[in-house]
Amino acid sequence: MRRSSSILSERSSKLLNMTTMLATTRASSLPWLSDGPRAIPQAFPYQGSKRALAGLILSLFPEEGVGRLVEPFAGSAAVCVAARKYDMAETCFISDVNAPLMGLWRQILCAPQELSNRYERMWLDQQSDPRKYYVRVRDEFNRTQAPELLLYLLCRCVKAAVRYNQRTGDFNQGADNRRLGARPDVVRERLTAVSHLLQGSSVRVADYQTVLA
Ligand SMILES: C[S@@+](CC[C@H](N)C(=O)[O-])C[C@H]1O[C@@H](n2cnc3c(N)ncnc32)[C@H](O)[C@@H]1O
Repeated sequence: MRRSSSILSERSSKLLNMTTMLATTRASSLPWLSDGPRAIPQAFPYQGSKRALAGLILSLFPEEGVGRLVEPFAGSAAVCVAARKYDMAETCFISDVNAPLMGLWRQILCAPQELSNRYERMWLDQQSDPRKYYVRVRDEFNRTQAPELLLYLLCRCVKAAVRYNQRTGDFNQGADNRRLGARPDVVRERLTAVSHLLQGSSVRVADYQTVLA
């Protein structure tokens, strides 16, 4: 028994060494692995973002990349952004069932500076009473679904997690009152970079089954 377990541990350590060697060799030749997730710009924080995994996901692409990349549960579209950054997709198709989120994506693609200006105004306006301000923005978002309001909510809400009332459909996530959300200059830089990378992409509100059918 002792003998077989020592053979097993010897084998698993050999396997581990081989995997590490392979990962190291690949990482030095694949920039999306060696650069790390922080090299991939992120338009807004989003719970469940695949940004940390995007490098590994790109490693599974054909070596020459793909013509059109479809991201059917897009959220923050981390895989599309990474694929465009490393020239692994010619165009991207961003799709999600969350309609206001896709409205925000359209704005990021078409008018990133205008969106950044609006965020800046909100970020400054909130300073005198951030808690009250967040609730006001949330109420207004539930009436209008305006993209800049969703951007502000994503930057300020708990764990960047969108949460909706099942009955009314209202956005009901609370604010993370330890933070005021990313500074406007940081948000502008992110939106500008992502918008630039994703020019030519399409955005659609749809269930994944429709998109993949
Ligand atoms: C965990 S998030 C994905 C995050 C994304 N991969 C990223 O990198 O940010 C899951 C997303 O799937 C979307 N979703 C949930 N059910 C869906 C469905 N049936 N069809 C399409 N999108 C859906 C949600 O709105 C949410 O944005």
